Amino acid sequence: MKYAPALASAVKVVAGSASLDLGKQLAAELKVPIVDLAFEKHPGGFPDGERYVRLLGSVEGEHVLLVQTTWPDTKIVELFLLQDALAEHGARKVTLVIPYFGYGRQDKKFEAGEPISARALARRLQIHADAVVTVSVHNPEVLSYFDVPAREVSGMPALARFLQGAAVDLVLAPDENAERFAREVGGALGAEWDLLEKRRIDSFTVELTPKAMDVKGRSVAIVDDVISTGVTIASAAKMLREQGARRIVAACVHGVFAANALTRLQACDEVVATDTLLSSATRVSVAPEVASALR
Ligand code: R5P
Repeated sequence: MKYAPALASAVKVVAGSASLDLGKQLAAELKVPIVDLAFEKHPGGFPDGERYVRLLGSVEGEHVLLVQTTWPDTKIVELFLLQDALAEHGARKVTLVIPYFGYGRQDKKFEAGEPISARALARRLQIHADAVVTVSVHNPEVLSYFDVPAREVSGMPALARFLQGAAVDLVLAPDENAERFAREVGGALGAEWDLLEKRRIDSFTVELTPKAMDVKGRSVAIVDDVISTGVTIASAAKMLREQGARRIVAACVHGVFAANALTRLQACDEVVATDTLLSSATRVSVAPEVASALR
């Protein structure tokens, strides 16, 4: 379904606990108020671990930008609660901003018996959402799983903004899926770009097709949508190092950094991520990109 511009009138931002910082930045960019929330009935939510949310300001009759990353799972539950609270308290319209669309990478059935997880989430998230905006999805086709207007905002300009000062000679996509990301960042930096071919064996094992690249003594940025285990980036970095690359920066929009990824990523000189997920590698915000898509 075609995406219609979201911001026609005054709005308020409501940000879940996975996206509080980005929600504040977004509100500042758009010059709109953010509604205070409580996330704890008792420290940690409820004693049994269930989530708790409470709106501390009015949303009656408002167009709300509801900002929440869908990772990890508890944040999805929290998002469902926030959607219910907005409906219950009379929000006129809800534009759901999903900075990192967790489960987006299971965009099809890879093996018999599996669900299409991205679709399962989309179908449920669109309840109490009039439109959806998400950032750098693994496969833009997942947007078609929403029946409400849904669009992708690229986080690559934010990465390019950071890399601007890093004197990058080459931007490298570690696999075919990241080709569009390397092209975009390379174009923004006015730098060459290239890509590798990857075959994933399992969550912790990938095979890269050997490729000779002109990287001796040069500075290379490897760009991707997500870094999860870091295996993809570490394998690409190893190949670059063997070919004499002088400096390697790993740049992703979504820094999941699962299963000791940051240790694996010591193969790189620097690791950079945006604020769709907060981590020690967060260096730049996608708020300007999201705000201009909403204006
Ligand atoms: C896959 O194509 C994605 O774009 C990323 O390359 C992948 O999810 C990274 O995962 P990991 O860090 O576990 O290798």
